[in-house]
Amino acid sequence: MNSKEIRQNFFDFFKKKGHKIVPSFSLLPSDSSVLFTTAGMQQFSLYLSGEKDVLKDFGTRHLASCQKCFRSDDIEEIGDDTHNTFFEMLGNWSIGQDEKGNYFKEGAIKYALEFLVDELGLDKNRFYITIFKGNENISRDKESERIWQENGISKERIKEFAEKDNLWGPVGEIGPCGPCSEIHYDRGEKFGCGKDDCGPNCPRCNRYVEIWNLVFMEYNRQVQSPCLAGRQAKSKVQSPNFEYVALPQKNVDTGIGFERLVAILQNKPSVYETDLFFSVIKEIEKLSLKKYNEDQKSFRIIADHLRGSCFLISEGILPSNLAQGYILRRLLRRIIRHAKILNLSQDWYIKPIKKISEIYGGIYPEVKTKETEIITVIQKEEEKFGKTLEKGLSQFEKLLEVKSQKSKVKSISGIEAFGLYQTYGFPIEMIKELAQEKGLKVDEENFKKELKRHQEISRAGAEKKFGGHGIEKPKAKSQKSKAAVRLHTATHLLHAALRQVLGKHVRQMGSDITAERLRFDFSHPQKMTSEELKKVEELVNQKIKEDLSVRKEEMSYEQAIKSGALAFFKEKYPEKVTVYSIGDYSTGQIFSKEICAGPHVNRTGELGIFKIKKEKSSSAGVRRIKAVIE
Ligand code: SER
Repeated sequence: MNSKEIRQNFFDFFKKKGHKIVPSFSLLPSDSSVLFTTAGMQQFSLYLSGEKDVLKDFGTRHLASCQKCFRSDDIEEIGDDTHNTFFEMLGNWSIGQDEKGNYFKEGAIKYALEFLVDELGLDKNRFYITIFKGNENISRDKESERIWQENGISKERIKEFAEKDNLWGPVGEIGPCGPCSEIHYDRGEKFGCGKDDCGPNCPRCNRYVEIWNLVFMEYNRQVQSPCLAGRQAKSKVQSPNFEYVALPQKNVDTGIGFERLVAILQNKPSVYETDLFFSVIKEIEKLSLKKYNEDQKSFRIIADHLRGSCFLISEGILPSNLAQGYILRRLLRRIIRHAKILNLSQDWYIKPIKKISEIYGGIYPEVKTKETEIITVIQKEEEKFGKTLEKGLSQFEKLLEVKSQKSKVKSISGIEAFGLYQTYGFPIEMIKELAQEKGLKVDEENFKKELKRHQEISRAGAEKKFGGHGIEKPKAKSQKSKAAVRLHTATHLLHAALRQVLGKHVRQMGSDITAERLRFDFSHPQKMTSEELKKVEELVNQKIKEDLSVRKEEMSYEQAIKSGALAFFKEKYPEKVTVYSIGDYSTGQIFSKEICAGPHVNRTGELGIFKIKKEKSSSAGVRRIKAVIE
């Protein structure tokens, strides 16, 4: 069965069972407390917690999807048999309670068995099941254990695990979560380590592959309120305490790692030999002097990271030193290094990228339509980094040589690592990787200190910054500063309007305000049409006309994010933040909500007529708008 058919089988199966098939949500979550969408449930989070009504928005409680996901926690692990940065997750949901028809543990387990055994033909006797062992807050999941047994899984094949493996969620620090029960598949001895204690979750081998995670979401993990107050009084750095409270409703949230399922069904040793990857690897092989089997690691890293980069760029992300942009930069720079190891010549990536868009263009058209932009972004990053890579690598070798003459080299100092970072653009993770290959450590703590010291130096003397907006230093109470404040509020309106008209991929990339005009840079892959510009301008003016109030609130960073405030400079925020919302509080319609230090006007009616003067490119994939208030 090819991967397209497997995906389609999943959709057909759940459609037949009365589920609505929901298209994949963006890789960039609307909740900016996490960088990426890491699970299929993320777009349904507010429905799972009961804050939003699933029936109103979807017309049913039963949903299924194939979601684009991206996990950046273990980029350095990529190259093994099972990990990927970008991956797809198949999932089905049963959200909330109903008198009739809604399912929980029994339904989820029966559907999973029916799909895997009857539809895909997997051998039930090869399943191992895991269930939650229980802890001081949540009891052992006896119900799932019973249901599995009633459905033909013997007791010996059901293993219990603690919270690390079988209490799932939430995404980020707070939100819906619950005990889970996983289906692992025994792929047979040839994939095993042969040790006596080998079994599900074996840390040494891939004989047992997790196929499906069934989460029974009954809890909400939330910040313990009284402790939070105490904590803030006592210390600013201590992390908050969390508590599990029962959700108002029970939900099912399931997830299948699509690539792994394909590897099992196509009987391939790893995901890289499946039809999702192998043609890409073959393209790279044609361009290299090496064969896949001679250096699987480099081939796999390139294939995984290239696919991941295609998806990130197709959503408007560009390489930078911040947040998602930094992750993309790490991927691209790692690709460039491994391409050098494989002796790939200039522009080698064009054919593999075309393969990727061929594989994915059907289900995710953005990868196909943005193909040219993807190539351009990678080309630019290669131009930038390719040149310094060689010099940096030889500098690294020299460094080791000089050090080894003096004494036995054990580590790279913070200052040395910082030199490679600043002069040659080596991401710290790459320096660590290079060091590790030589059996060395990097003094990361001193690297961070050095980085901070340099950031402080370069910040000193720079313009005063407010919540990510560069604002010309206001002269107290002067006309000039009032104009800048008005333009600051207009910037928030513009940001929200752009996200509404162009889409949620729009992110603030820079902002500069003088008394005369605002300048706003944002991620968007192409020139805005005159129609789009008109719509944005009209929307901002409409919001000005509505004379909406601008509300300032202080809250913890977690609360701000939970309430949907936009935050674009995540790492730099203090624990307590100021949130500015613009909206109509009588109807609860909030047009804009951002973490920002202000200052702002009190009502949008104070602004005057908003006019966009110019829209142009700022850098690849970043547009710049200049606007005024008249
Ligand atoms: N949310 C769970 C997971 O990511 C099941 O979908 O594994």
